[in-house]
Formats: sequence, C-alpha cells, structure tokens
Amino acid sequence: MRTHKCGDLNTQQLGETVSICGWVHRRRDHGGVIFIDLRDRAGLVQVVIDPDVENIFSIAEQVRSEYVLQITGIVRDRPQGTVNSNMHSGAIEILAKDIVVLNESETPPFPIESDIEVNEELRLRYRYIDLRRTAMQEKMKVRRDVTRVLRNFLDDNEFFEIETPYLTKATPEGARDYIVPSRTHENSFFALPQSPQLYKQMLMIAGMDRYYQVVRCFRDEDLRADRQPEFTQLDIETSFMDENEIMTVMEEMIRQLFAKVINVELDAQFPRMSYQEAVSRFGVDRPDLRIPLELVDIADDMKSVDFKVFSAPANDPKGRVVAMRVPLAGDLSRKDIDELTKFVSIYGAKGLAYIKVNDLAAGLDGLQSPIVKFAPKEVWDSVLAKTGAQTGDLIFFGADKASIVNEAMGALRVKLGQDLNLLQGEWKPVWIVDFPMFDWDEKSGRFNAIHHPFTAPSCSVEDLVANPGAALSRAYDLVLNGTEVGGGSIRINRTSMQQTVFEILGIGEEEAREKFGFLLDALKYGAPPHGGLAFGLDRLVMLMTGSSSIRDVIAFPKTQSAACPLVNAPAVVTDEQLKELGIRLIKPAGKEKLN
Ligand code: AMO
Ligand code: AMP
Repeated sequence: MRTHKCGDLNTQQLGETVSICGWVHRRRDHGGVIFIDLRDRAGLVQVVIDPDVENIFSIAEQVRSEYVLQITGIVRDRPQGTVNSNMHSGAIEILAKDIVVLNESETPPFPIESDIEVNEELRLRYRYIDLRRTAMQEKMKVRRDVTRVLRNFLDDNEFFEIETPYLTKATPEGARDYIVPSRTHENSFFALPQSPQLYKQMLMIAGMDRYYQVVRCFRDEDLRADRQPEFTQLDIETSFMDENEIMTVMEEMIRQLFAKVINVELDAQFPRMSYQEAVSRFGVDRPDLRIPLELVDIADDMKSVDFKVFSAPANDPKGRVVAMRVPLAGDLSRKDIDELTKFVSIYGAKGLAYIKVNDLAAGLDGLQSPIVKFAPKEVWDSVLAKTGAQTGDLIFFGADKASIVNEAMGALRVKLGQDLNLLQGEWKPVWIVDFPMFDWDEKSGRFNAIHHPFTAPSCSVEDLVANPGAALSRAYDLVLNGTEVGGGSIRINRTSMQQTVFEILGIGEEEAREKFGFLLDALKYGAPPHGGLAFGLDRLVMLMTGSSSIRDVIAFPKTQSAACPLVNAPAVVTDEQLKELGIRLIKPAGKEKLN
C-alpha cells in the first residue's frame, strides 16, 4: 500500500512519486490550498492539496482529524521560509496526486499531542488513541530497544531463553497471589507466578547452566507509581557463578544497555554498599546517591539531654536519633518547615525539630531553634561538628523508633533533594549487599525472609540456627537513582539448609512438604551451586525514558486500583462458568461493576 513511511521522507526522495499511509494529524485550509500533516509511527509529513486537482481537493475538504488516508504524490522542496528544522521531513512536502480515504474517524476523545495533560483514566480507556501520541510511541520504541539489547547481550553470553508456566503454584515473593480456578480439578486452584523463581532454580538443577526470560509476573499488592499487578521481569539464573561473578556480568549488561539505547556511559564499576551502611546513612536500602544529604547518628550526644523526645530513643536499643544537615537551606520559612513536618508525619514522625545555623561563629546565639534550650553548648558543638554544619545551613532532627526515623528522614531526604534541586549527577547505580537474612515481624511474632526463602545465608546451618536475626544473606539489589531496578541472590542448593530456613520462617515440615516438596526433592539430585537475579523491566524503561510512572511504559497497564478501563476487567462471569468451576460467590454478583 505504501512505498515509504511518512516520517522517513526527506530531501533524498526529492522528485520521486511516493505513496504513504497514515492518520490525519492536522488539516489546515489556507486560502484555497489544503495542508494535511499525515502521521505514522515514523513521524509526520506535510501534504499539499492544490485546488486545481478537483477530485482530490473535494476529498481533502471532507477529511477530519484521525481519518486514515493513503496518499500518492510527488516529493518537492518546501517553499523558502517554511522549512521546519525540527521535523525529519521538515525540508520537503508532498504534492498530492491521489487520496484514498482508508477509514473515517470520530472526533478523538483527546488531541493526539504529547504535551497535553489528559486525565489518566480517559487515557487508559482509549489507550489505542493515547498510544498514538509521539511521546508514547517513543517510550514503546525505547522498550523495544531495551529488550532487544538485553536479549542480544544474553544470547552472546550463552544464556538460553526458556519459558516457564504461568499456571502454577504459589511462589512466595511477599505479595498475595492471583489465583485461577481449575475446572478439571475440583476445588483446586492454580496461582499465577509472583516470579519464576523455583522453575529457574530447577532449570539449573536440570543442567541448563544459564537461563533468562522476559517474563510476566503477577502480584496482588498495594500499587504505587513503580508497581503494577502484572509487570515484566528480565529473569536470570546461572550455575557455577558466585555473587561477584554474577554482579560483574550484570553490570556489563546494564552498561551496554544504557550506552546502546540512550547513549549514556555509566561508571566503569558500580559501587557496592552494605545494607547496614545504606540504612544508616540514607534511612533506606535503595538510596538515591544523587542526593548529597546524609543522616548522622547523634544518640550518643542526646542520652542525658533535658528533652525526652530525644533522650528516650537515644537510650532505647531500638531507638534512633539523627541529624541531617541541609546546606544553605537556612532561608526555609516557618511555613516550609511546617509543611515538611506534615510530610514526615505521614511516616509516623511525631515532629521535625530543626536548627538554623545563622552564624556558626556566634555559638548558641548564632543558632535559631525551638530545641537549642534543651541541651548545653557542648552537645550542640558536637552535633555541629558531626554534621559539618556551616553558616546558612539548616539541620533537621529525627528521634523515635529506628524504623520510623529511617522511613521519615529517608523520605525527607529524597523530598528535599528534589524540591531544593540538590541532585548531583544523572545516573548513580549502586549494588546493595550484605542484607540480613530475616527481619522480625512484631505482629506475627516470627521471622520473614528479606529476599525470599530460597536465598542462601553467608553462614553455616549451625550459625544460622544459633542466631537467625544476625545472619546475613548472599543477596544483592541493584539500585538506580533511588529505585530498586533488580535483585537476586545465591540460592540454597542443599536440602538441609533449605529445611533449616523453612523452620526459622515457621514453615513446619508438613507445610514445607506440601508447598515446596518438589523443590526439596529436586535439591537432592545434584543441585549445582546457582544464583541469579531479576530486573524490573518496566522500572528500567521508566527510568531510561524519564517517565514518572511505570504505567507510561506499559502498553496496556492497570489503574491504581488494579483494573483495566479499556476492556473493563476484572468483570463478572456467568453463572454457568461459576457452576462449571464449582464456585459459589459469597456475595452474589449483581449488576454492579467491579471497578
Ligand atoms: P524481586 O521481588 O526483588 O525478586 O523482583 C525483582 C525486580 O522486579 C521489580 N518488581 C516490580 N516491578 C513492577 N511492579 C511490581 N509490582 C514489582 N515487583 C518487583 C523490581 C525488583 O527489583 N525471584 C526474585 C529475583 C531473584 O531472586 O532472582 C524476585 O522476583 O525492579
Ligand atoms: P515540642 O517541645 O514538643 O514542641 O517539640 C520541639 C521540637 O521538636 C518541635 O520542632 C517538634 O517538631 C520537634 N519534635 C517533636 N517530636 C519529634 C521527634 N520525634 N523527632 C524529631 N523532632 C521532634
């Protein structure tokens, strides 16, 4: 139907007769002459319809935005002064000789312009129109480039792409499962995989050596800007490689990815930081290293001050007291600080003490703060020295249970970094290593696996049993600009260790057999040392395209309430289907819609 794509045409085709197909992006009537900007995936081209050619002029008069046309015409130079250097085809135009209307279009629900703000619900309902916008087409292109470069790299490095089932059994990754009833097995359900974790481990036991898969994962969890209920992982597993070897190959892959797709040279070696250090300095295990702000422990200084808010957590082994110096932020107003206080309260902080360093040389008189009166000069001298404060700076304080201080001050750090434009450098990857194996869940009174229960500890079975809370794991996360883009670990490859970890997690022998008997069996048949990781593909593309949400880099994403407004899913099913599946609803389906 066509000889060229609209956006590919330029002066190389001057004088040629070409045929193009696409959508009417814009139609303008200019005193008898009609201009149509025709758009396809490659871009726009300007078509001129001369009134002399009557039959096609009358067609051109009828066409409206988003009509689909086939146009044949001659490529010619644009008249002087009308060249558009922002367009690939901006130096030429097409003088139409024939126009065929391939299809008409109703007026679209919103204009096909990239920089127009449109309600997201509407965008998702008409996603096929939203995706026509140049910005969205570009994101899809980057996504295509990303998977292509990753696949090429992995193919070159002898990884096999192998598919694993979607209809399977629960794989614990910390979320709820999406379950699928089985018609042929009464009262039984499949679970959609939260990840292919156990299949990829069994592929290593099967001798596949190096595996990868661009794979959909399903997790029923609270959604955020960087979380979707179904999302794509680049999932990887290797045999006979230790964590250093795995991280080294993956770093090379990510470096090539950024260089080839967005022309960015990442550092030759990504820094590595222990979990402990990350939480201590930044409050979180996914620090944005572009932000030059740090938490400094000052509990030692606050143990005997006359301010219970600080002295109580300073003396509590589970408490934490920190100071965070914000250079040259002394001019933040009372109102700004009140707003920040409200912000940290979302994370459970009961207040946000501060000191404005108006004049460092003037001693206590140079400090402006509601809390200076609570402690003697030596205390503040020590705090100022530890934070490296200078005249003009602002110091914020957090004091509470360590978990609250870390969350609140970690979030405050990110907010100030962004609001005050403090970001340094564009891309700051970092590996976070030496995670604890478990964290203690107060509510249920038991340990949870920090990564997943198949992650190897860096100690022996005996040491693990003796002190599970202190054990470190052989897990690693790749964090980029404050987003966890990937994570993995060396796995347990011996049944005894796997059983021990299940026991520590409160999974009894019977439950372990029922849920993971197949894995415990497989580990008995010569399971090689193995390990791997998975990258969040959507998150990588989100960062690489500068998008603020992963919904923007997924062709057909779900809303924040995990629904699809385009096809209207989830939806009720017929009584016959339910009957066939042996399901009776607790609340029978009425006419109401589920979203
Ligand atoms: P993990 O659960 O850390 O590890 O997931 C790996 C990566 O997947 C991305 N990710 C998500 N992206 C979008 N929406 C979500 N809901 C979501 N959840 C996770 C993140 C994360 O770093 N089986 C292990 C990997 C392994 O050990 O090899 C796993 O799934 O970028
Ligand atoms: P108050 O004496 O309660 O008015 O508190 C004095 C200052 O300490 C105020 O600026 C409060 O915002 C701040 N503050 C109160 N609780 C905390 C806390 N847990 N961590 C940090 N600052 C706090």
